[in-house]
Amino acid sequence: MSSSTNRRVFREYVGAQQSEVNLTDVPVNPNVGEFHFILSFAIDYTSDSAPQPTNGNFSPSWNTSHHTPEAVAGFKRRHPDGPNIPKARVMLSVGGDSVMERANVFFSPVDEDSWVRNAVESLSAIINNYNLDGVDIDYEHFRTDAAMFTRCIGRLLTELKARKPGLITSIAPYSDTESSTPIYGRDTTDQDDIRYYNTQANNNFAGGRVLAAINTNRPGRHQHRQPGCGPPGVQRAEPERLPGIFFWSADASHNQNQGFTYEARAQQMLANN
Ligand SMILES: *[C@@H]1O[C@H](CO)[C@@H](O)[C@H](O)[C@H]1NC(C)=O
Ligand SMILES: *[C@@H]1O[C@H](CO)[C@@H](O)[C@H](O)[C@H]1NC(C)=O
Repeated sequence: MSSSTNRRVFREYVGAQQSEVNLTDVPVNPNVGEFHFILSFAIDYTSDSAPQPTNGNFSPSWNTSHHTPEAVAGFKRRHPDGPNIPKARVMLSVGGDSVMERANVFFSPVDEDSWVRNAVESLSAIINNYNLDGVDIDYEHFRTDAAMFTRCIGRLLTELKARKPGLITSIAPYSDTESSTPIYGRDTTDQDDIRYYNTQANNNFAGGRVLAAINTNRPGRHQHRQPGCGPPGVQRAEPERLPGIFFWSADASHNQNQGFTYEARAQQMLANN
């Protein structure tokens, strides 16, 4: 497949773990379709020692002195759009697991209308300030029912897209957002991965583009598969169907001094097929 027709996407979360990694540190393979960084996370919580929800008034929880609008612009300047090169894009992710590991981040609107109104205004301001290209939804804990979450997020994304046509959107399913999402154990096999991936891609999210996940973090809170296991197995089995891979996270890879070898290997895989 020539790179001009390769639409496979590589994405990596960055910022949540406050490492010194710079966007320009991660290698970009010229033959992947798109390369997305996802700044993590915009949260609607206060930033004091006892974080409280702010009903949709979002602010960045990444280090804003480090991942600045200038850093985003610099990364995009280094990878300008053109024929046969990947589209380098920077998104933000909304939600996440915790406020600096001090408290869980709950989806907890006061009411639908005020949460949506506040979220549209505050996220638009961040998107404009950083000139961001997309929004990823990654809530992991909920104080409302699924119907309320779906309505709020649906309205939020619709209004953000109306303000910025072409905005990329995605959602990271968690056990509460997608009831059949299992927690990956470290003993999960390639076969388990392929079966799980196919269930998600063909049934639960049929019609959507379902990416496979690789975690470079130490085993712990986030029990996704470790690198080298699942997605390569998925890829071997379904080479023409895997639309992309996402990594959690650039901070973890930096902290573990892995030289971004897993990122490079995953992109090579996406580029080759
Ligand atoms: C990131 O960039 C800053 C500013 O150029 C630099 O001081 C810092 O050393 C870089 N971080 C790493 C991990 O190389
Ligand atoms: C945030 O980034 C700045 C600039 O890179 C750095 O000096 C500072 O130590 C960082 N703060 C934290 C909490 O990591």
